[in-house]
Amino acid sequence: MRPLIFEAYPGLESLPWMELGEFPTPVHRLEAFGESVGFPELYIKRDDMSSSLYGGNKVRKLEFIFADARRKRRGLLITLGAVGSNQVAAMGVFGREAGFEVMGVMMHQLNADYVRRNLLLDHRTGVEIKYAPNMVGEFLLFAYQYAKSYLLGRRPYYVPAGGSSPLGNLGFVNAAIELKNQVDEDLIPEPDYIIVVAGSVGTAAGLELGCRLMGMKTRVIGVSIAMPWYTTLKRFAGMVNRICGFMRESDPTVPLVRCSEDDLILLNDYIGEGYAAYTESGIETVRHVMELEDIPLDYTYTGKALGGGLDWLKEQGMRDKVVLFWNTVNSVDFSHLIEDIDYRELPRSVHRYFEEPTQEELLTAS
Ligand SMILES: Cc1ncc(COP(=O)(O)O)c(C=O)c1O
Repeated sequence: MRPLIFEAYPGLESLPWMELGEFPTPVHRLEAFGESVGFPELYIKRDDMSSSLYGGNKVRKLEFIFADARRKRRGLLITLGAVGSNQVAAMGVFGREAGFEVMGVMMHQLNADYVRRNLLLDHRTGVEIKYAPNMVGEFLLFAYQYAKSYLLGRRPYYVPAGGSSPLGNLGFVNAAIELKNQVDEDLIPEPDYIIVVAGSVGTAAGLELGCRLMGMKTRVIGVSIAMPWYTTLKRFAGMVNRICGFMRESDPTVPLVRCSEDDLILLNDYIGEGYAAYTESGIETVRHVMELEDIPLDYTYTGKALGGGLDWLKEQGMRDKVVLFWNTVNSVDFSHLIEDIDYRELPRSVHRYFEEPTQEELLTAS
C-alpha cells in the first residue's frame, strides 16, 4: 500500500519507497488475555502479519531502505546484528525477492530456538553469514567485508542495525498514520499508550513522532530489550528529532517536533540478565498470550515488552487506560522452508548454536 505519509506530506513523495509488505495490519482487542491480566481495554496491532513471507517490524523499514539501495544501484546489502537476527532474516527473505545479495555480519548471542530457525532461514535464502565473537570483532569484520566487497565491485549498501536510519524509521511514522485511520474508522479507540519493544529504538521513535504529528494523545512506552548503554532515552529523543528533521528536508510543511528525554517513556527494568536472556515474566507472558489468544510472541523481544509494559502501567495505577500492544515479531511459520537443511551446510563458526543447548532446551531439562 502506497505510504500514507506521501498523502499527508506530498513533498516526501520524492523519497525512495517500494512495496514489500501487506498493509494495513489488523488491529483487534485482546479480550481474553486483557481480562485475565486486569486490562479490559487492551488491543494488539498485528505487525506480525506485515507480510505472508516474513512478518514483523522490519518490513515497514525495508520498504524505504531497499528502494534507496535500488535507486543507488547497489547490489549487496550488508547489515549488522546478533546471531539469529530478525533483521538479517527479513533482509534475506525480501532481498532475494527484490534481487539483492545480502550479507549479515553477526555477533555472538545467547542460544535460543529462534536463533537456529533464523540461521537456517538465512542459509535457505542465500544470506552470506559472517560471525564475530563480540562487538568489537563485529565492527572490524563489517569494515573489512564492506571494503572487500566494494573493491570487488559488488556495490555494497550499508543497512544499520535494526534498519534504524531516519529513512527506514519513516516506516513507523507511516504506521502511526495507519493507526490514526483505524481509530477514525472505529476499529479501535484512540490508545492512551502504545507498548512496543525498544532495541535500536527506531520503531518506538517513528511511532512517537507519527502520533505527535497526527495530533493524537497516544504516548509510546518503549520497553528496552537491549544493553542499557545502547537503548537510552537520549537515543530515543535524538531519533525522534532526527526523523522529523529528515522529513522536513523533503517537505518543509512537516511540523517541527522537538522531544527531550523528559517527554518520553523508556523502561529499562525488564531486560533481565541481558539481551536475549529469557525472563520469568517474558516466558509467562508468551505462554499466556498463546494459550488465550493463539498468538505466538517470543521471549527475546515481545514477551518481555508486553509483560514489562503492563507491569509498569499497573504500578502507575493505569489499568483502565486504552493500551495498544504493537506486535513486532514475525508469526509466519516458515518451518517447511528449513526442515530439510543440515546445519553442517552453514559456516562452521555458527555450528555451536546447533550443538550447544538452547535456552528452551535448558528450561525443559530443569
Ligand atoms: C522482533 C523485534 N521486535 C522489536 C525490535 C526492535 O526494534 P527497534 O530496533 O526498531 O527498536 C527488533 C529488532 O531487533 C525485533 O527483532
